[in-house]
Amino acid sequence: MKNSPFIYGTTVINDAFIDRKNEIRKLSDNLKGGINTALISPRRWGKSSLVEKTIAMISKNNKQIRVAVIDLFTVSSAEQFMEKFARELIRASSSKWQEWARNARTFFKMLLPKIQIGIDPVNDFSISFNWEEMKKNEDEIINLAETIAKQKKIKMIVCIDEFQNIADFNDFESFEKKLRAIWQRQQNVTYCIYGSRRHMMKDIFNNPSKPFYRFGDIMLLQKIVRNEWIRFISKSFTRTSKQITNDDAALITDLMQCHSWYVQQLAHYTWNLTTDRATKDIIEKALSELINANTPFYQKETETLSTTQLNLLVAVLNGESRLTSVSAMTTYRLGTPRNVSKNKTMLVNNDIIQEKKEGFEFVDPAFELWFRHTFLNQPIHKHFEG
Ligand SMILES: Nc1ncnc2c1ncn2[C@@H]1O[C@H](COP(=O)(O)OP(=O)(O)O)[C@@H](O)[C@H]1O
Ligand SMILES: [Mg+2]
Repeated sequence: MKNSPFIYGTTVINDAFIDRKNEIRKLSDNLKGGINTALISPRRWGKSSLVEKTIAMISKNNKQIRVAVIDLFTVSSAEQFMEKFARELIRASSSKWQEWARNARTFFKMLLPKIQIGIDPVNDFSISFNWEEMKKNEDEIINLAETIAKQKKIKMIVCIDEFQNIADFNDFESFEKKLRAIWQRQQNVTYCIYGSRRHMMKDIFNNPSKPFYRFGDIMLLQKIVRNEWIRFISKSFTRTSKQITNDDAALITDLMQCHSWYVQQLAHYTWNLTTDRATKDIIEKALSELINANTPFYQKETETLSTTQLNLLVAVLNGESRLTSVSAMTTYRLGTPRNVSKNKTMLVNNDIIQEKKEGFEFVDPAFELWFRHTFLNQPIHKHFEG
């Protein structure tokens, strides 16, 4: 049996990666040209994949450029940041792991890093510092990429994923200032900084009173367009000796509103359930599977919301655009105008809803279907009727 051509849950850079030609060109030009870049979109639209794809191309064609990727997804303190940052930069300093420990000692003047190499050195490499020492000499670590670049006569690109997590660090404001102050003086390092919490990322890079204001270019990543998805789904079915009509490929795309992860997930379930030829019935089953698979996350998400916040979501789904009108507030029991405005801000800041031309809409298309079903009693499959 063939493997599914549809991939979700990990970054994609090969066959399952589509479109994004302009974004790759722009990001690549920026990073090679020394222009720091902040890349922002809701989660699962394709930031990490885009960065991986772009840096793979850069690394292949530019031997004098070294790239480090630091994912802050699980990082919650400045100390953890420092250790991960140092480790990844040192790993990027040489393609030979034998050189990492030797290199590491020459990169620091004041600090004495403690290095551990396990049985599988490439993955089992860690670096730590004496806590007191590190506090005193933070700058050495923050400036590490520039030190490496100069010493090895190379250029470095440093990619930092889920960057908004630094906002949770203790004393984050002074930390943020320090990062900016040191990074902006560097001559041989370019930063690619990306994150999913749009509100926080925009606040970090777009707010004139914040240190990272005008740190570089801001790219707001858009969704991959409908036609690209339809073509990709059709081609991928054909390539694996199965069939799907353009209409059905469009149905998958539209149900998931061109959302990268979900289109891939729904296409995958559909492909899996298809022996020779996809049908609407199969897509309907696949959609149920998708909703079931994601239900635990949606339940968790809604458990943290208050009753007036849930009511506000109901109002949004009913197309209510004037949320502070008396009629909306009484019909949907939204609480006081103050409640409404606080709840609105909270839901927008957490990327649950976003503003559209008139009123608001859900950010997550499958969560919307689940929510409609659970709270409004609407069938998940209404798109299949008639
Ligand atoms: N260029 C692309 N082409 C096709 N699918 C993509 C693309 N980018 C992302 N995806 C899909 O979206 C999912 C999430 O992508 P990812 O890069 O992890 O997003 P983000 O970093 O924005 O959260 C991937 O697992 C893949 O299924
Ligand atoms: Mg990501």
